[in-house]
Amino acid sequence: MDERRKPLIAGNWKMNLDLAGAVSLAREVLLRTASFGSVDVCVLPPFPLIQAVAGVLDGSAVGFGGQDLSKEDEGAYTGDVSAKMLLSLGCQYVCIGHSERREFHLETDESVRLKTGRALTAGLVPIVCVGERLAERDSGDTFMRVERQVTVGMGGLSPDELARVVVAYEPVWAIGTGRTATPAQAQEVHEYIRKLLSRMAGDVIALRMRILYGGSVKPGNARELLAQKDVDGALVGGASLSAESFAGIVECAG
Ligand code: 13P
Repeated sequence: MDERRKPLIAGNWKMNLDLAGAVSLAREVLLRTASFGSVDVCVLPPFPLIQAVAGVLDGSAVGFGGQDLSKEDEGAYTGDVSAKMLLSLGCQYVCIGHSERREFHLETDESVRLKTGRALTAGLVPIVCVGERLAERDSGDTFMRVERQVTVGMGGLSPDELARVVVAYEPVWAIGTGRTATPAQAQEVHEYIRKLLSRMAGDVIALRMRILYGGSVKPGNARELLAQKDVDGALVGGASLSAESFAGIVECAG
């Protein structure tokens, strides 16, 4: 990656762990990653576990955040969680538009755009996920799909707002499948995303923005992926549930 961008390794815990498990994983992550000052590290626990994780991580070098947020400010939206709530727990980050939310909760590029705006207004760092499905890759539609997700999902933001966004490229076919994109496949799409960001925010800001790769990242493949020019970190699912493997990935970024 470019020298000017500090890598970010984010652990998406998805719907795993319970209270005790989350606290102990947070403690272990803190212990094992504290020495990597050249890498930003954060974890994204399930909503009900954030407060307990905050008790461990607040004020430390390991950030934390939510896996989603409501596009609304507050009110009668049963089951939803607002930016204000996340902020009040000390969250710095929020994941938006993960492919599992798109698939199981019918999230659209338009809802991603509204949620991203909400996160930015609140001062949270949005980690906006994009990525094609297997059928789209096979039919040669990867770039078209990703272009729409980026330009609509982050549409209407000012260059200064875009500068605060982290993009995560997660090809759906590589998530939880053990099938990682090759470093060349990842770099190709990351470079394309950066070109889109240049068009939207100008070269200077696009060059400063972090684009993470996600999809079966492990200590064994992280180094090569992170060595790509436009890969600025990783959004890690399964391997973030073990402090040892998560720290192994952080080490590869350092
Ligand atoms: P895996 O690392 O388990 O493939 O998950 C990736 C992901 O979806 C992170 O958000």
